[in-house]
Amino acid sequence: MSAKTASDIRDPSLAPAGELRIEWAAREMPVLRLIGERFAKEKPLKGIRISACLHITTETANLALTLKAGGAEPALCASNPLSTQDDAAACLVMEHGIPVFAIKGEDNETYYKHINAALNHSPHITMDDGADLVASIHKDRGELVGDIIGGTEETTTGVIRLRSLEHEKRLKYPIIAVNDAQTKHFFDNRYGTGQSTIDGITRATNILWAGKQVVICGYGWCGRGVAMRARGLGAHVVICEVEPVRALEAVMDGYRVLSLLEAARTGDIFITVTGGLNIIDREHMQAMKDGAIMANSGHFNAEINIPALESLAVGKKQIRAFVEQYTFPDGKNLFLLAEGRLINLAAAEGHPASVMDMSFANQALCAEYMVKRGKELKPKVYPVPEEVDSEVGRLKLRGMGIAIDTLTPEQKKYLESWELGT
Ligand SMILES: NC(=O)c1ccc[n+]([C@@H]2O[C@H](COP(=O)([O-])OP(=O)(O)OC[C@H]3O[C@@H](n4cnc5c(N)ncnc54)[C@H](O)[C@@H]3O)[C@@H](O)[C@H]2O)c1
Repeated sequence: MSAKTASDIRDPSLAPAGELRIEWAAREMPVLRLIGERFAKEKPLKGIRISACLHITTETANLALTLKAGGAEPALCASNPLSTQDDAAACLVMEHGIPVFAIKGEDNETYYKHINAALNHSPHITMDDGADLVASIHKDRGELVGDIIGGTEETTTGVIRLRSLEHEKRLKYPIIAVNDAQTKHFFDNRYGTGQSTIDGITRATNILWAGKQVVICGYGWCGRGVAMRARGLGAHVVICEVEPVRALEAVMDGYRVLSLLEAARTGDIFITVTGGLNIIDREHMQAMKDGAIMANSGHFNAEINIPALESLAVGKKQIRAFVEQYTFPDGKNLFLLAEGRLINLAAAEGHPASVMDMSFANQALCAEYMVKRGKELKPKVYPVPEEVDSEVGRLKLRGMGIAIDTLTPEQKKYLESWELGT
């Protein structure tokens, strides 16, 4: 037990429960385990201080333990006020001496206090999920830049924020866009968000999906996954998009594509996964029918215009955990889940460990890469090195006991030549 570890968590006595759940998650994380075993021998992160702003879940706990096995000194804070699993946080602090600053349900002020506490660790590497560490460093904590070798970023929204900093030529250190690795967004965003968003809404509401009209805003990597899983449960899925090619893809994947205003009239459940602002706005809420449910699985709680909802409603009550009922002047009720925050992390447990295995394997290997090569990099947003991406794919297949074919020398030559035709 390490009661001395600086931290701010809900309840240290939750540590034993957290330990069991972290162990359970580890069973589904073979790639991270293999990396951890190598790290324990080679210590590639020896003495490296890592400030990590991630969802504090059992999977993140396994990442923190892997980094520590590699010799790093990680300190963690939450990347969303509602996503912390308090038992996992307690276990990291009490059993492993890893500083954690995160409490599920923390208010905005505490959220930023915790970000600053994690930054007080004076990182060599920042690990972000949504770019809040980087944004805080660039706005208020410029004194830390001197020690920083580089950073990594976990999600689409974070990468967009970083590219905007880079575009303005204000980014102060190199960052690897972990989200953009194929072994991350093809799987985490699609299968992870797909399954866990449905899981979060089901746990919060216990609705039957079969026969419901489910309106999904955004047909990107996450939206495709949510649509696929909702359809699998028997829902009638409607897609709303702004990108013509993505909308076309949704049509050809067999979904109805409508404008949100049109879909608003008939939808039973609305899910935003765009990374954008006020996707569900005042006029959509006005058009919705009694009983409609709204949930967000995009990174920030900005996709459903909650101030507009508050101003339209004449009454509000919490009817279940994570379900707020808003009553309109005509008696219509709309339901907002989890304050518009990531529903899969707020009301469920986030992505299953098996998919986080790949995302966090990328994080661990990118941290190692940053230590080895960071000094050669410019203050830019970098892709995950190809060798890391394919290594994660290879190890995941191995962990799943799946063997694949390899090209014969003849096939390889054929694919590399231009002379051969029919
Ligand atoms: N819940 C989670 O655990 C989780 C996991 C991964 C990513 N995310 C977050 O989910 C969001 C989406 O990520 P992604 O990887 O799918 O991004 P993406 O860029 O692949 O897809 C976003 C889609 O939303 C569309 N869109 C934008 N504005 C729209 C609007 N007004 N109406 C309809 N569609 C609109 C875009 O055209 C695009 O097709 C991001 O905020 C990302 O950070 C959440």
